[in-house]
Amino acid sequence: MMDSNPILKVSNLNIHFGSGDDLVKAVDGISFTVGRGETVALVGESGSGKSISSLALTKLAPRAAKYVAGEIHFNGQEMLSLSDRELRQIRGSQISYIFQEPMSSLNPVFTVGWQIKEAIGLHQKGVDRKSEIIRLLDVVHLPQRLATAYPHEMSGGQLQRCMIAMALACSPDLLVADEPTTALDVTVQREILNLLAELSEKVDLSILMITHNFGIVSDLADRVYVMQKGRIVEEGTTHKVLYEPQHEYTKQLMAAVPRLHPKPPASFTIENAKEGE
Ligand SMILES: Nc1ncnc2c1ncn2[C@@H]1O[C@H](COP(=O)(O)OP(=O)(O)OP(=O)(O)O)[C@@H](O)[C@H]1O
Ligand SMILES: [Mg+2]
Repeated sequence: MMDSNPILKVSNLNIHFGSGDDLVKAVDGISFTVGRGETVALVGESGSGKSISSLALTKLAPRAAKYVAGEIHFNGQEMLSLSDRELRQIRGSQISYIFQEPMSSLNPVFTVGWQIKEAIGLHQKGVDRKSEIIRLLDVVHLPQRLATAYPHEMSGGQLQRCMIAMALACSPDLLVADEPTTALDVTVQREILNLLAELSEKVDLSILMITHNFGIVSDLADRVYVMQKGRIVEEGTTHKVLYEPQHEYTKQLMAAVPRLHPKPPASFTIENAKEGE
């Protein structure tokens, strides 16, 4: 799965807040890659630096954040050295984000179709917007009639599909999904995750999935990075990290998952079963 020419390569990224006694090393020297068409998960407890790391990819971390060191190579460009104008262009056209709360990203006074139209309009001049709206609704399995609905008339799952449609309007190379299903109930979570899996296959989208849920990791990710206190403490293929976690912290995170695949770890033997492993 390791890609020698990844679409995203983050090297030794350091992001700090405050200074002196108030210094917070939110991201403390992390390095990771995402290959083309690959789904990579960043997992870790609350405050471990997952969101800041992903926002930093297009320099969207909060204003107070200081980019102290590191490089972010994406599609042949070094993001931290780009101008605001260049970054804005990439945000809309090559890297898209979806977040936990779709409602907060949608404008309540406009219809869903209008918002998708805006997302298309910003990035693609000269496309037939009406047929593009219909195509995007179809891609995320929303009925056409919802184009005229307002956000408050839609369910949480429908809203998140709408956000995904808007994120895809610019045909991004990388989709960053920060806890995209946390606010949804379990069956709807499953539908949205299936949709993301389908998109990564069909559209050959690279996905950086941020979650604290190892169940999601096991279903969706090719590789996983485990973060703790701004650092990456473990990384590997999903199978390896889930079934042979090395780091104590990863083991603890795993223990918090109610159910994983009912498959024993690769290292399981009758002998070590006695050890209570
Ligand atoms: N605007 C800010 N000012 C100061 N510190 C901040 C700011 N935003 C984030 N931080 C700090 O940066 C660290 C990383 O935060 P981040 O939001 O990346 O965590 P996270 O892993 O996404 O957590 P969660 O799972 O809760 O979303 C935390 O210690 C947080 O307190
Ligand atoms: Mg977060």
